[in-house]
Amino acid sequence: MKYSSVPNSEKFHNNGNRDRFFNIGRLVPFLFTSLAAATIFSFFVLYSPYPFEFLTKQGLDSVQNQQDHHVVQEQHHHHHDQNNVLSKPQDQQQQQQQQQQQQHLDQNNIPPKPRIKESCDLFKGQWVPELRGSLLYTNSSCATIPNSKNCFRNGRIDNDFLNWRWKPDKCELPRFDPKAFLEMVRGKKMAFVGDSVSRNHMESLLCLLSPVETPKDIFKDSEDRFRKWYFPGYDFTLMTLWTRFLIVGEERMVNGTGSSIFDLQLDKVDENWARHIPEIHYAIISGGHWFFRVMYLHEGNNLTGCVYCSKPNVTDYNVTFIARMAFRAALNYINSCKNCNGMVTLLRTFAPAHFENGAWNTGGYCNRTSPTGEKEIDLSSFDLEMRTIQLEEIERVRKEEKQGKKFGVVDITRAMLMRPDGHPGANWGNKWMKGYNDCVHWCMPGPIDYWSDLLMAVLRKETGLDS
Ligand SMILES: *[C@@H]1O[C@H](CO)[C@@H](O)[C@H](O)[C@H]1NC(C)=O
Ligand SMILES: *[C@@H]1O[C@H](CO)[C@@H](O)[C@H](O)[C@H]1NC(C)=O
Ligand SMILES: *[C@@H]1O[C@H](CO)[C@@H](O)[C@H](O)[C@H]1NC(C)=O
Ligand SMILES: *[C@@H]1O[C@H](CO)[C@@H](O)[C@H](O)[C@H]1NC(C)=O
Ligand SMILES: *[C@@H]1O[C@H](CO)[C@@H](O)[C@H](O)[C@H]1NC(C)=O
Ligand SMILES: *[C@@H]1O[C@H](CO)[C@@H](O)[C@H](O)[C@H]1NC(C)=O
Repeated sequence: MKYSSVPNSEKFHNNGNRDRFFNIGRLVPFLFTSLAAATIFSFFVLYSPYPFEFLTKQGLDSVQNQQDHHVVQEQHHHHHDQNNVLSKPQDQQQQQQQQQQQQHLDQNNIPPKPRIKESCDLFKGQWVPELRGSLLYTNSSCATIPNSKNCFRNGRIDNDFLNWRWKPDKCELPRFDPKAFLEMVRGKKMAFVGDSVSRNHMESLLCLLSPVETPKDIFKDSEDRFRKWYFPGYDFTLMTLWTRFLIVGEERMVNGTGSSIFDLQLDKVDENWARHIPEIHYAIISGGHWFFRVMYLHEGNNLTGCVYCSKPNVTDYNVTFIARMAFRAALNYINSCKNCNGMVTLLRTFAPAHFENGAWNTGGYCNRTSPTGEKEIDLSSFDLEMRTIQLEEIERVRKEEKQGKKFGVVDITRAMLMRPDGHPGANWGNKWMKGYNDCVHWCMPGPIDYWSDLLMAVLRKETGLDS
């Protein structure tokens, strides 16, 4: 079984047929319709390198052959709570490309083990049945579940997906203990740095902590991208710092509308998160979903390459290479921060999406009701390649940790590859987008809550509290 968790291959320099690829002139009719849609709905971001190809050229027949896409949804809370899709189709050739990519990966995929100071690898294991194993809060005990992840409220009927527990092969993972967690982080500030899946993790942590103390909502920007909660009893601050790429990445605007083409600055981290780090003790950094787009890469004033641009005189890179450069830049930036003594940075590895039988915009869905086994995981999947580069970049920076800083990983990729049942799917409460499924974010409560069990276990190690 294969999920199409992502993958748009980037090998089109092998394809000879450049004319078929993206061409800005074709955008125009699309932009007018999407402009209307975008003002009615809010913002739902998806990734495909050939956003407009099939609408304008390929026709709908190509759709059936498509592999999937990832979706990143960025919710906005305007006067209504809806989200929107800025449409993003895909090219038929990608399937071939993906096959090539997978062959390539079959030869190369040897994911490195994270270096963890312990004998047991917490991240390698299985989901084992346990009644209410994933249930540490409910939609009535936690008041802060966002509607789009409140799957039961939005009509999810099955609840067997809650009856599982993550069991590392060689040990037990201690269950999340909110009191002990809050004691551990007393007087500290913790930030989740990343995209909407990063925020999903923070929201889950907030619910896990809710039985002990209701936090104060102390900051929220107009688009709900930056958010801060405060737990007075523990003087603990929890925040999300939103960033698409970790580095600077500006969307090109065409007549005031996003074009879904990005200019990335490989030598500049995104200050929207980076300027906060001197006040942060614990950072949980993640990303990856946004890199599946047309991107132009810059260093200083030089255009040094692109992804999916297919321009004759610009070097084409692949998605994971660019993601690697972005993570490297972010981790180096943190490591060389002079005012961040003792800061602990944990990289939460790539969270797979699970669209089956289609992409997000071609009827792909994720309606399974139980986990899949370890054997069913596609070891050559793109998700694991993304994880590999993330682990390698963490390893790199760990070798030169400066000024008492520490770097570690919360490696959820393999565990979550087995949880196609953990997404909202059709139950994400968006009345404007019936028929589209969210197979990227995670239901709350649900298996995402285990990310905090792992986070707690890793923090204990990194802070020396576990000895
Ligand atoms: C909570 O979940 C139950 C199902 O478990 C559902 O019937 C109910 O509507 C939900 N309530 C809220 C407030 O989300
Ligand atoms: C931008 O708007 C102007 C004026 O409405 C129009 O002439 C032009 O074609 C538009 N350009 C694009 C790329 O949509
Ligand atoms: C930009 O390109 C010029 C000429 O190739 C080179 O000298 C310069 O170092 C480059 N700048 C950066 C920031 O890469
Ligand atoms: C690529 O070629 C185009 C057209 O010949 C030119 O305008 C552009 O400056 C070139 N870009 C680079 C990076 O050389
Ligand atoms: C992506 O590019 C890097 C660097 O050029 C290369 O090492 C890697 O094998 C490429 N990955 C794929 C899937 O082509
Ligand atoms: C999942 O959805 C597909 C397509 O709508 C349907 O054919 C299938 O029966 C569903 N499976 C479950 C378990 O609901």
